[in-house]
Amino acid sequence: MPHLISPSVLSCDFANIQRDVEMINNSSADWFHVDVMDGVFVPNISFGFPVVKAIKRHAKKPLDVHLMIENPDQYVEEFAKSGADILTVHYEACRHLHRTIQLIKANGMKAGVALNPHTSVSVLEDVIMDLDLVLIMSVNPGFGGQKFIQHTLSKVEQTKALISKTGSNAVLEVDGGVNTTTGAALIKAGADVLVAGSFVFNSENPTQTILDLKSM
Ligand code: DX5
Ligand code: ZN
Repeated sequence: MPHLISPSVLSCDFANIQRDVEMINNSSADWFHVDVMDGVFVPNISFGFPVVKAIKRHAKKPLDVHLMIENPDQYVEEFAKSGADILTVHYEACRHLHRTIQLIKANGMKAGVALNPHTSVSVLEDVIMDLDLVLIMSVNPGFGGQKFIQHTLSKVEQTKALISKTGSNAVLEVDGGVNTTTGAALIKAGADVLVAGSFVFNSENPTQTILDLKSM
């Protein structure tokens, strides 16, 4: 499949969120990447349900919600009501991951699992058939604008191999430090979806930057 682009609204101008959502609507982006942080799982707090709902009101593309929160189960239903189309939880934040994945699907969303840079791809072996998405973190989660961790490329290759070997339908997304250089290497390694925050929103022309990422 041609790769997808999921701009991260974490780097948008929150005083002009509707404008930035419309920019993404009118660009060649495929999804909205929405980063929710709780200040516990990661050393940062981003935003919660009111902001997700506000994005949903204007978004004309699917909401790809990345939860960087402890114990996500208790909030799954509310994220469904807030308009999440894909809900991704962290492997490191879930004690009963299989149950969490089923709960996400039972609430009508696609289910994703994210792995931190230090977490081995092998932990996905027993859930890969249940997943709609795997998110490989290429920075330590918590902040936009960090440097890409090169070792991620081999994890992307390993994940792609696991997906192919098992016949899983999961798409492979990568998040953190993505630009046209790292993005091209990630696509070569097997990534299906690229998340990009600061590279898009700090550029002179975000619409063009999304197109640059899309047309690599
Ligand atoms: C980091 C978030 C990312 C972040 C990426 O914890 O999950 O989605 O917005 O930002 P950039 O593209 O600037 O690395
Ligand atoms: Zn993210």
